[in-house]
Amino acid sequence: MTLMLSAADASSVLRAAELLRRGRLVAFPTETVYGLGANALDAEAVAGIFTAKGRPSTNPLIVHLAQAGDVARVVSDWPDAARRLAERFWPGPLTLVLPRNEAVPDIVTAGGATVGVRVPAHPVALALLREVGQPLAAPSANRSGQLSPTRGEHVRESLAGRIDAILDGGPTTGGIESTVLSLVDRPRLLRPGLITPGELEAVIGPIERGPVVVAGPLPSPGLLDRHYAPLTPLIVSRDALALCRELQEQGVAVGLLTHEEAPGDLVVERLPDTPEGYAAGLYAALHRLDGRGLGRVVVAAVPEGEGWLAVRDRLRRAAMPEQ
Ligand code: TXA
Ligand code: MG
Repeated sequence: MTLMLSAADASSVLRAAELLRRGRLVAFPTETVYGLGANALDAEAVAGIFTAKGRPSTNPLIVHLAQAGDVARVVSDWPDAARRLAERFWPGPLTLVLPRNEAVPDIVTAGGATVGVRVPAHPVALALLREVGQPLAAPSANRSGQLSPTRGEHVRESLAGRIDAILDGGPTTGGIESTVLSLVDRPRLLRPGLITPGELEAVIGPIERGPVVVAGPLPSPGLLDRHYAPLTPLIVSRDALALCRELQEQGVAVGLLTHEEAPGDLVVERLPDTPEGYAAGLYAALHRLDGRGLGRVVVAAVPEGEGWLAVRDRLRRAAMPEQ
């Protein structure tokens, strides 16, 4: 049974915190997407996250903290670059990958020597973290490989019956996941997100783009694989309207996701033509399109340029064929 808790009700956070202290799983809102939380220092509780999501144990989890001052609970090194980035962007959608300490169970880091940490900028997440008094490991609160949830009902559709509670705080504002930056060795962008490389470079100087592809375990599995994927096959096109018409002629039920004008006779989800607005609405639009039983979703290609980097990344992955 999954308990539905409304964050508007003051006792809900206390109830959710109590569950988490007892090693249970609770989904909660952050400013990016909903997370599926467990006490990060309790290996058994964290194991439940992997089971509930069907997540491969090779993919490490992000640890959420109530404040930057708590980093010493999970990391063993806090370089000057981390301090400056935390000062500038926390609470906020930036995950920093740093050497872990011995308090962090192996299951959180997928056995690796590093841990991803962030302080989320959401009043409900922060209230929960303070009330629990422990760092919370939390991946996005969806079945592995599916779309990330930006509303409590998305979590319910994906995980009801598999987790202990959902703390519903309404729609998230950011809409896509945090930027993941490794500060082990030279700064390296592992996953583009709401904070752009340029914003990071303005604080710490040049950063490398993209993961180092090596043999053995992936440095950040979420960066490379199909992820954030809708159920309906999706294709990104520079000539989306023409493609829609072509598919329609073949008898395919088609939906169009676009930031541009669109004709009224098509199934259309229109998103704002700014990266922030587009990101904020992207997953909710894909969830709605998924609910319409279409044969194909066509996405109008978004602009080039670094401001759109994270949106392009999520669209590229959503369009990847099932593996
Ligand atoms: O916005 C977000 O980041 C959301 C909210 C809930 O905080 N969380 C999220 O978690 O997106 P998840 O598990 O869906 O994605 C975490 C990403 C994965 O790509 C994972 O591989 C990478 O971060 N990651 C986590 N720890 C890592 C580490 N120690 N080294 C490299 N990559 C890591
Ligand atoms: Mg995820």
